Amino acid sequence: MAELRHSGKIAIVTGAAIGNGKAIAELLAREGAHVIIADLDEAKETVDSIAQIKSAGDAISIQTDITDEKQVDALIGKVKSKFGRIDILVNNAGLYEEEPFDLLSFEKWKNMLEINLNGLFLMSKASIPIMKSNNFGRIINMSSNTIWLGTPYLVHYVTTKMGIIGFTRALASEVGQFGITVNAITVGLTATQRPAGSRLAQGNILEHLLPPQAIHRAETPEDLAGIVSFLASVESSIITGQTINVDGGVARH
Ligand SMILES: NC(=O)c1ccc[n+]([C@@H]2O[C@H](COP(=O)([O-])OP(=O)(O)OC[C@H]3O[C@@H](n4cnc5c(N)ncnc54)[C@H](O)[C@@H]3O)[C@@H](O)[C@H]2O)c1
Repeated sequence: MAELRHSGKIAIVTGAAIGNGKAIAELLAREGAHVIIADLDEAKETVDSIAQIKSAGDAISIQTDITDEKQVDALIGKVKSKFGRIDILVNNAGLYEEEPFDLLSFEKWKNMLEINLNGLFLMSKASIPIMKSNNFGRIINMSSNTIWLGTPYLVHYVTTKMGIIGFTRALASEVGQFGITVNAITVGLTATQRPAGSRLAQGNILEHLLPPQAIHRAETPEDLAGIVSFLASVESSIITGQTINVDGGVARH
């Protein structure tokens, strides 16, 4: 049998208990990776579904709060001692929350930065020394197409998702010499279980959302997994510091 795209690779996917992260973890495993799911919740559903995939890699769930430095260090320590390497890090865990700027409290602002930026920083910071020691690494950061659209009631969220683009570009130029690439994906509104995605899945905002899209159907988590898999592969070795927009081709005005 031909070797799978990610055979023998060690991949960490944050926030993969549900939603986009779950679909990403499933595809990486289907393509041969050993997947470690770092989520606040136990990722039983994802681990079980990966176990059903024949001739795939495998998955384990290590409950981790990515905003807690000690928990992140413990996670990376476990991965290092079990596998000795980290090839792929998908910084997917994130918080989405709508709030008009007038009502946006400093607490909510800080909490958004904590999860969407500090968590991504801690995970990248802890993983990169191990990637460097193997002269290979793929970091993929999940941003949002709201950064191009200027969507209202999301100032705190959009700020963090634009911050991810700056993080991606600057970090890429420091780690490229070690065989590590860093890229971002700006995700369109996707039919996931929660929070905005659940409304999309119910269909009551589709009529407003779909007309400006070139592709007239709702985006699904599986639509994202393929591009993540490509950016995680050896085939993408010359692509770094980039942001790829995956949103069905929403027209920007
Ligand atoms: N779904 C969409 O419409 C959409 C659109 C644009 C961007 N995105 C981005 O895609 C990513 C995934 O989105 P989703 O809709 O699947 O999210 P989701 O809310 O369905 O799932 C997020 C997961 O992250 C986990 N998580 C949250 N905080 C955590 C923490 N501190 N430590 C560890 N895990 C934590 C949650 O437990 C959950 O399993 C996010 O970064 C999100 O901003 C999603």
